[in-house]
Amino acid sequence: MTALLIKGVRPYGEGEPTNIRVTDGVISAIEPATGADEPVPADLPVFDAAGLVALPGFVDLHTHLREPGREDTETIETGSRAAALGGYTAVFAMANTDPVTDNAVIAEHVWRRGAEIGLVDVHPVGAVTVGLAGAKLAELGTMAASAADVRVFSDDGHCVHDPLIMRRALEYSVALDAVIAQHAEEPRLTVGAQAHEGERAARLGLAGWPASAEETIVARDCLLAGHAGARLHICHVSCAGTVEVLRWAKQRGVRVSAEVTPHHLLLTDERLGSYDPVNKVNPPLRTAADVQAMRAALADGVIDCVATDHAPHAVQDKDCEWASAKPGMLGLQTALSIVVETMRGTGALDWRGIARVLSERPAEIAGLAGQGRPIEVGEPANLALVDPDARWTVRGEELASLAGNTPYEGMELMARVVGTVLRGQVTAGRERIAV
Ligand code: DOR
Ligand code: ZN
Repeated sequence: MTALLIKGVRPYGEGEPTNIRVTDGVISAIEPATGADEPVPADLPVFDAAGLVALPGFVDLHTHLREPGREDTETIETGSRAAALGGYTAVFAMANTDPVTDNAVIAEHVWRRGAEIGLVDVHPVGAVTVGLAGAKLAELGTMAASAADVRVFSDDGHCVHDPLIMRRALEYSVALDAVIAQHAEEPRLTVGAQAHEGERAARLGLAGWPASAEETIVARDCLLAGHAGARLHICHVSCAGTVEVLRWAKQRGVRVSAEVTPHHLLLTDERLGSYDPVNKVNPPLRTAADVQAMRAALADGVIDCVATDHAPHAVQDKDCEWASAKPGMLGLQTALSIVVETMRGTGALDWRGIARVLSERPAEIAGLAGQGRPIEVGEPANLALVDPDARWTVRGEELASLAGNTPYEGMELMARVVGTVLRGQVTAGRERIAV
């Protein structure tokens, strides 16, 4: 039998401090914390959680772990550590690895390696098309039937732009009870694009990435998903117009869900002024009005959840001129803080709402039965323990990721994950345990 006592914690930041007892990976009791002198068995590990808020462990639908292929920028091990430190108990590893995760062999490799490391449940995302090339459907059924049990498919990094291929993928996904996650970017509208199409990009002479390139694909795919009766998920929504399309589709009964990244909840294309490629990301940082629309949509549920799009890149791919820099930014260890700042700090969401967007909805979208569950007796002990009053300064070199491309370098953030529990095992914050 394994046991753990989490002492003095407030589930969802509500009520009086409680003690959460965990037995064999399951929450076995939640009782009032009566005081510091309470006796505990000598051999019971005790996690001192005084002043902390307990949330269900976070689930990231969109993580780039870079293994296989770019182990110089991240590995399943370093990414798992970053995820655990960020409060995550499950992540979905995107398929744009090298080789691409477009078959059962690679999917099983990623899944097994994640399980061996054991810091977070690593679920491989399967590619929709062979080699992410957009021309031929990958073997979705074989990946679904593999030990990795793939249920989320995406060509992320690329848009599945051929409407017939997208239609077929959606149709197959119904039989597999899977979801197709679309990187919504009409490629003909973003040839050479370097930044959000608007005044700032024009002034800097950067080719624009128009909002309509996202909106048109989302509208098309909502119609295709409605026709197929399939589940569609929209990756990293970035434009106010996309929210209107999603609202319309959801009202029509289309089975569509959507995510927004922490960076699209906070940062704007004002960052372009510095010309620092750490701010280059796909889809690009957009306007302050778009940021406001992302927050409002996340609060009212038109956007279902937050996903990091954690995208580590090597120094040489970021410390270069803007046009040749790769798009993407780190996100796993800063996500909670950015969501607290942009959503709780503004009164848009309370801790229950944060649990919904970081844990419950993503688990539901991906069909994970043991994640995103309420903090209740009998439920799996998957928890993020958050210090709501923490203030911390982001230093890329101190993050667990091999890469350092955080857009929050030197910024002081509010709230911090100080402990993570995966089925009763403490995967982050072990230093707080006394036995
Ligand atoms: O910024 C991004 N980086 N967006 C993507 O769609 C892909 C990702 C990556 O793989 O680096
Ligand atoms: Zn993407």
